[in-house]
Amino acid sequence: MKAIEIRNKYLNFFKKHGHAVIPSSPLIPENDPSVLFTTAGMQPLVPYLLGEKHPEGKRLTDYQKCLRTNDIDEVGDNRHLTYFEMLGNWSLGDYFKEESIAMSFEFLTKELQIPADKISVTCFAGDEDCPRDEITANCWKKAGIPEDRIYYFGKDDNWWIAGEEGPCGPDTEMFYDTGKPKCSPNCNPSCGCGKYVEIWNNVFMEYFKTKDGKYTKLKQQNVDTGLGLERMTMLLQGKETPFDTELFKPVMDKLLELAKVDDIASRRIVAEHLRASMMIIVDGGVPSNVDRGYILRRLIRRMTRHMRKLQIDLNSLGDIIDLNIETLKEMYPELVAKKENIKKVIIEEKDKFEKTLERGEREFNKIATRLKNENKDTISGQDLFNLYETYGFPPEVTADCASEQGLKVDTSEFDRLFKEHQEKSRMGSEQKFKGGLSGNGEMETKYHTATHLLNAALKQVIGKDVHQKGSNITPERMRFDFSCDHKLTDEEKQKVENLVNEWIEEGLTVTVQEMKKEDALKSGAECMFIEKYPDIVTVYTIGDVSKELCGGPHVKNTKELGKFKIKKEEASSAGVRRIKAILE
Ligand code: SER
Repeated sequence: MKAIEIRNKYLNFFKKHGHAVIPSSPLIPENDPSVLFTTAGMQPLVPYLLGEKHPEGKRLTDYQKCLRTNDIDEVGDNRHLTYFEMLGNWSLGDYFKEESIAMSFEFLTKELQIPADKISVTCFAGDEDCPRDEITANCWKKAGIPEDRIYYFGKDDNWWIAGEEGPCGPDTEMFYDTGKPKCSPNCNPSCGCGKYVEIWNNVFMEYFKTKDGKYTKLKQQNVDTGLGLERMTMLLQGKETPFDTELFKPVMDKLLELAKVDDIASRRIVAEHLRASMMIIVDGGVPSNVDRGYILRRLIRRMTRHMRKLQIDLNSLGDIIDLNIETLKEMYPELVAKKENIKKVIIEEKDKFEKTLERGEREFNKIATRLKNENKDTISGQDLFNLYETYGFPPEVTADCASEQGLKVDTSEFDRLFKEHQEKSRMGSEQKFKGGLSGNGEMETKYHTATHLLNAALKQVIGKDVHQKGSNITPERMRFDFSCDHKLTDEEKQKVENLVNEWIEEGLTVTVQEMKKEDALKSGAECMFIEKYPDIVTVYTIGDVSKELCGGPHVKNTKELGKFKIKKEEASSAGVRRIKAILE
């Protein structure tokens, strides 16, 4: 059975059982900056699980595009995927354990024709928060699963929650017995040896876990189920890995044909990351250096690197994308409509990364020569880290290049520096959610005013179409994103910097006024998102050079700012440039 047939059977089955078929939400959650990607079918349904009325009723079913990146480094083995499709059915305060289990069992054994004796199940063993789930076990017995194939486990295995806080509950998982021998007398579904493969998870969501770890009862008893389509497809087709199914096989074969040296893990990585990247882009993702954009960038980079490893001509990427769209278009017709954009984004990013790799290789060669001159044979963690941080040259690539030249690498020192760096950026992103403009310290206030001057200077130098797209301030620096269709020339950068410094030296006064929003706009005040402001707004005016709607705070006179210096100008996303600047 092909994946699309399984999907259709699933949706029809639940439709027959009174469920409304709802569309998949985008992979990039709408209006939810707290998560990077949709990771489960229940995610877009959280408000309804908490009790809000769903317009389509109390029984829902869908297929959901999902992306999970916690195992990104495992991709390449025989089972891990970042992108996958989850089939799900929900009861929003309607049926509960008995009907849910009866339907799951019927679907598996009748629709998919899985012999009942190949199915084992697990139930929640019980603890101080929630009792042992005998009810679920009894439902399974009633459905036809004998006691010796019903297992009980604790929260680690049989409790489901997305993250730290939210709707949750005990779950029951269904496992497919591949028929492989038990790895030990105690081998059971929680063992990872591969005999038992998890196929479906029904969560009985009747609790809410608060941030401080308390469980309260939800308004209603819900059911949330999830069935991984790629895995089911693989099992029903008797394949060892999802890469052997029709979802990946054409691309895997093509890569084999194009590769000058074969490495199956690399081919899997290319096929998997390409599919994931396409699915992110079709839902509006663009590569960048932060958050979602960075995941996409990482996927494309990793794919490019493994194409190089396979010695595949990178100019064939366009054809490989075409083939992949051809393979997936029946399941995701949206890919066809956005084909050109998908190709453009992936190929541009690949091109950029190739340049990075070339620069990194040059830098690597310098380091290698220096070490040889010094009669050393190990690349230090600091050099590894600099190559990574400054040149985007991944440490595993450095290690490859090093071994070609008979050099070793100090990965443990690299790991330490990397952890330190991660910790810093974690702190940075926590900071970010506090808001770019919330800091009221002396330096932040200065940077805040400098932001207005920069905005005004860009308008004068580049043109009136320059608008602020974002800003982020720390006590050390400012970052400013603005709409602009080109990379600034050195001359433009210099002009902008000079202009800001002239205004600083002129000692312009900064004044603040309260006025009605529409009057402020009429007076020509600049603002980023007009709908975000209340009816009465504060407008900051700096001499006669800048007038902006803003919450402040600002310095009183531009003289206080010191010297303004642009440190970097770079692309932020399509049509948006970013300037990093400091005050000295
Ligand atoms: N939310 C559960 C899961 O992701 C069931 O859909 O496994």
